Amino acid sequence: MVVLITGAAGFIGSYLVDAYLARGVEVIGIDNLATGSPSNLERAHKDQRFSFIEADIARDAERTGELLQAGNVRPDLILHFASPASPKDYADLPLETMAANAAGTRTCLEVASKCNARFLFASTSESYGDPLEHPQKETYWGNVNPVGPRSCYDEAKRYGEALTMAYWRTRGVDARIARIFNTYGPRMRENDGRVVPNFIRQALAAEPLTIYGDGTQTRSFCYVDDLVDGIMRYGDAASLAGNVINLGNPKEFSILEFAKIVAEVAGVPLRFGHARLPEDDPTRRCPDITKANALLGWQPKIELRDGVAKTIAHFRGAAAPH
Ligand SMILES: NC(=O)c1ccc[n+]([C@@H]2O[C@H](COP(=O)([O-])OP(=O)(O)OC[C@H]3O[C@@H](n4cnc5c(N)ncnc54)[C@H](O)[C@@H]3O)[C@@H](O)[C@H]2O)c1
Repeated sequence: MVVLITGAAGFIGSYLVDAYLARGVEVIGIDNLATGSPSNLERAHKDQRFSFIEADIARDAERTGELLQAGNVRPDLILHFASPASPKDYADLPLETMAANAAGTRTCLEVASKCNARFLFASTSESYGDPLEHPQKETYWGNVNPVGPRSCYDEAKRYGEALTMAYWRTRGVDARIARIFNTYGPRMRENDGRVVPNFIRQALAAEPLTIYGDGTQTRSFCYVDDLVDGIMRYGDAASLAGNVINLGNPKEFSILEFAKIVAEVAGVPLRFGHARLPEDDPTRRCPDITKANALLGWQPKIELRDGVAKTIAHFRGAAAPH
């Protein structure tokens, strides 16, 4: 079996690379290193079944196709994870974000169509925008500002979803969509602007934790190992073409509660700094994972405190290599 993973040098992509290699299959990673890091692939490069193509999936469609052909590679499964993912990254790279999810998704779907490969699109809870339904089920259409500062990400993912469904409907590609909710763990970049690395970096530097708004907005936090397990189950499962499945942790925490947990686990006194809530920041976020549970037998196992402890250990540089 050959698995092609775009965004392989990123946070989630690199864990997927390691997990598929651990299964003994061949893995090809593609990444342009826009927000990823070669260091995430150090372990993978030690495995002969891993190969890496440094390319922009949105721009180098021909090159990607040529490289795959030259290597006589026909993937059986394509996981499209290439995209800036943190609000800070997609604010810095709005056009690149749109391209990765539009042209990049199309390139992957073309390869899937030619190779008769299964395709899985890494979509996002941001497809629901600032949701009016709670918790969010896959049937909810969302409440997205199409022209706001987050629209480059939200709408690009929604376009990627529509493209995925069109290739399934009209080209018969075995294409699936995962709507991923807030995932965290080691290998996140300290400065990527997301709440988990923000709080941990600030706690370890004995700085006040920055609360945007009043901190009553909620998030759910899924540890990366749980997410990888869910993605692999989805990639393995027969007869799920054309599906949309939420993957995330359904336990909801306010940002204030989360700040307390980070401070406790880091062993530092809790101090807050305050900043204005960013525009279009969702007030509540929590997945309904009934479908993932029914179709994949999946639910997250790792408690927030345990996941935070592992992430803090990594940030301290004291963790065993991941
Ligand atoms: N982490 C989360 O909480 C979360 C939540 C929902 C969805 N997702 C999705 O999962 C995927 C991975 O997210 P992540 O958190 O690992 O982010 P990340 O930034 O760590 O990883 C993304 C990777 O994609 C690469 N990339 C970006 N544009 C590319 C392009 N045009 N061609 C090739 N490579 C490109 C980057 O260099 C990076 O290595 C993204 O598609 C993201 O939208 C993540």
